[in-house]
Amino acid sequence: MIFLAAILSSCGKDPAQMTDAELGLNQQQSQGRKVFNIYCASCHTAYSSKGNKGPGLKHLYKKEYLPSGLTPTDEHVEETITRGRNMMPRFADQLDQEELQDLIAYLHTL
Ligand code: HEC
Repeated sequence: MIFLAAILSSCGKDPAQMTDAELGLNQQQSQGRKVFNIYCASCHTAYSSKGNKGPGLKHLYKKEYLPSGLTPTDEHVEETITRGRNMMPRFADQLDQEELQDLIAYLHTL
């Protein structure tokens, strides 16, 4: 029991349960978080590398390579979002340019 409590307190709060303010998100990033929760969260986790239907997106831009093997640039990530990739649907028709930019800004915080 003490062991478990030690683990829990050392991990702190689950970021997925934290408010935008607690995460230190600016206005654009917090808009992007909303977009993510609507369109992406059904297949991707934001704060875990464990996949759901798609790969977990934790540290997306901090890794050397995206799961596909492409480098993590805005260009490559935008391409995946707007055109889709294999089993991932395309979002070009659902997201306007502002939502896309907000979403990218949020993904940079992961
Ligand atoms: C229906 C499920 C689904 C939804 C919804 C979805 N994705 Fe995906 N996504 C996937 C799958 C599956 C892959 C793996 C594609 C592959 O085979 O490389 C993926 C891959 C990715 C990748 C990695 C691309 C790479 O180059 O490796 C990113 C980034 C990504 N998705 C972001 C998003 C974002 C942002 C959204 C919301 C706009 C989203 N996805 C919505 C299923 C989904």
